[in-house]
Amino acid sequence: MMEATVAITKSQNKKTKPDPETLQFGKTFTDHMFTMEYTHEKGWIQPEIKPYAPVEIDPAAMVFHYSQSVFEGLKAYKDASGDVVLFRPEENFKRLNRSNKRLSIPPINEQLALDYLKQLLELEKDWIPTAEGTSLYIRPFVIATEPSLQVAPAHHYKFFIILSPVGSYYPEGIHPVSIMVEDHFTRAARGGTGTAKTGGNYSAGYNAQAKASSEGHAQVLWLDGVEKKYVEEVGSMNVFFKIDGEVITPELNDSILQGVTRKSVIELLHHWEIPVTERKITMQEVFDAHKAGKLEEAFGSGTAAVISPIGELTWNEETMIVNGRDTGEVTKALYQTLTRIQTGKQEDPFGWIT
Ligand code: COI
Repeated sequence: MMEATVAITKSQNKKTKPDPETLQFGKTFTDHMFTMEYTHEKGWIQPEIKPYAPVEIDPAAMVFHYSQSVFEGLKAYKDASGDVVLFRPEENFKRLNRSNKRLSIPPINEQLALDYLKQLLELEKDWIPTAEGTSLYIRPFVIATEPSLQVAPAHHYKFFIILSPVGSYYPEGIHPVSIMVEDHFTRAARGGTGTAKTGGNYSAGYNAQAKASSEGHAQVLWLDGVEKKYVEEVGSMNVFFKIDGEVITPELNDSILQGVTRKSVIELLHHWEIPVTERKITMQEVFDAHKAGKLEEAFGSGTAAVISPIGELTWNEETMIVNGRDTGEVTKALYQTLTRIQTGKQEDPFGWIT
């Protein structure tokens, strides 16, 4: 493919790179960023790579008032020969456009967006950390910039890609966490925006997260917004249960995010010939399986943590310990295989690596 033309202004003021040992998630940003404007008249214009810096935005910009914005998250790694590798980036740009559609934001050419990202990474590749568990987290996002208080889609937008070197989600190794099943607040409504990657879905979960934290749990397990009966997601991740040899994950609906890691987990399990089913699953079914000694493993999947084992689940005052609070075999194998493929340490039979 021909390289898309981008105006590049290099930073004259390079930052000191952080110590890979002390990296946190999303706290440090690289020297450059990508930006592009949208106007109703001209479409997406002015692709630029320039020094990372604060941007000036009108206080009436519609994003501040009605939250018209979407984002993505993916990671870049370096393989053993120092080449930059991306994990299924086309899936993220496809999802960005699905989110755009839900939020009435104009679509972005997916191939061009990937090409812009590659050009940004070419400039920033020295920022990709290589220590075990580290990566360069990529955050593409779109905001409505038109100054207007009208409740209607904006005519002007800005698309950004910023980059953040991140540490391992598990400094002490992959670690089973305690989950509280949330029975009052819900993350998303039927017909709402739950399947889109948009900020409001995340901030709407903070109060339930605070409640779970105050009761000593790491994350919330979200139930459906209609009957509060069906399992939907865990924290900001998709969720899987292994019950009596079968791996089950909630089937997609308009309140569940279509995770790239979720899709990869399902494909890997098929490849390993481990039974995996996408279907509705109630919390009662999980509880009954636990009671019958058949809840073998449970875990969340997402870009940030990859695979996060669930050690216990608290629902209606009952606590279910999963696999003696140890990481299960399938959970461990998924984490290891996905992270090895992502870092180019293991052959990729699926064509996931770019
Ligand atoms: C992920 O698991 O990648 C997420 O969705 C969390 C992210 C918003 C930081």
